[in-house]
Amino acid sequence: MRIRVGVFFGGQSVEHEVSIISALQAIPMFDADKYEVVPVYMARDGGMYVGEADIEAYRDIPALVARSRRVAPVSEGGRFRLYLWPPGGLARFFKGGRALEIDVAFPIVHGTNVEDGALQGWFKTMGVPFVGSGVVASAVGMDKYATKAMLKSAGIPALDCRLVLAKPFFADADAEMEALDSDFPVVVKPVNLGSSIGISVAGSRAELRDALSYAFRFTNSAIVERAVQPLREINCAVLGDRDGVEASECEEPIGSGALLSYEDKYVVKGGGKGKGSAELSAKGMGAAKRRLPADLSPDARETVRDLACRAFRALGCSGVARVDFLMDADGTAWVNEVNTIPGSLAYYLWEAVGMPFPVLLDRLVDLALKREREEASLSYSFETSILRGAHLASQ
Ligand SMILES: Nc1ncnc2c1ncn2[C@@H]1O[C@H](COP(=O)(O)OP(=O)(O)O)[C@@H](O)[C@H]1O
Ligand SMILES: [Mg+2]
Repeated sequence: MRIRVGVFFGGQSVEHEVSIISALQAIPMFDADKYEVVPVYMARDGGMYVGEADIEAYRDIPALVARSRRVAPVSEGGRFRLYLWPPGGLARFFKGGRALEIDVAFPIVHGTNVEDGALQGWFKTMGVPFVGSGVVASAVGMDKYATKAMLKSAGIPALDCRLVLAKPFFADADAEMEALDSDFPVVVKPVNLGSSIGISVAGSRAELRDALSYAFRFTNSAIVERAVQPLREINCAVLGDRDGVEASECEEPIGSGALLSYEDKYVVKGGGKGKGSAELSAKGMGAAKRRLPADLSPDARETVRDLACRAFRALGCSGVARVDFLMDADGTAWVNEVNTIPGSLAYYLWEAVGMPFPVLLDRLVDLALKREREEASLSYSFETSILRGAHLASQ
């Protein structure tokens, strides 16, 4: 019997489209002898559909949704099933049954509401095994401030930062700015977004004020940290769980190093958010070419790979994550972020160490099933007689 994998993608996230691309890259790569893949497209309105696996179909999403089978996920008798919704005419859609039963959920989603533990918590509630990090690691990975706190407590180098909240800032910007007094330039980032959204560089107090106002358009909390200049960025993926991890090849997104110094090329002047502040171009970042493998000495490469594994473990990640580093001119590597569902599942970093995409997917499903077996052996009920003698005060 083949394992039926539900690949969940889309979702109510600003990275909805990126997720569609990542998922459609992965779907044809599953070993067809072993897996039957059901694409589950989560539309922006919250509806779930048995989607199509062809990118062309997503160029006109309203048309896709109109012709697709909408499903209602149900947990019954310990099984996770997708029923056609609204009910009626079921036989027409699902061959040999009223519902599609999913053995393993495979979220390929990016950003808030989906990658941040929300979807993972829902899978847990529904009782379906799922691929990747659990609720806590996913939530921490999405929160730049919490990530730093976890990394630092594990002795892993991460840049110091200050947390700024929108309410006190808008109530008394001067007082907040006073507390932030620091050397410039600094980088201001929303705590919980991705794809460089809401991020800017500030070279002075006036720019810092603008940068914070800009970030607070997207979030209620932001961090301020030293801008690394000149900057090199190095990324390394990690695969595994608490019982063992391995690191991939390292990549260097090129162009990003010039991001801060070649403002005209890589930095978009933000419309209407005040003179002097600058927005990093999300498109520029996404389109950035990479050097793979990164140009690192064998020692530096090993240091980065080791730190990546330690960061993965510190957050309690599972499955595949990509750990991104900022590197100072003297070669000091700072862990910048941990992407618990990396774009394209970082398959190219695994191919570079000889692991083909289908093998990566296989390993990920295995890890999910392993976690399920381990959790199944834990007891989730604790016999008590509390209800027998219980009376509510009002009765
Ligand atoms: N402290 C910093 N110094 C210099 N550049 C930075 C710094 N922090 C972020 N950047 C630049 O901004 C980009 C996006 O920041 P990042 O922290 O990775 O957030 P996101 O979650 O949006 O990817 C980075 O890839 C890097 O180019
Ligand atoms: Mg990033």
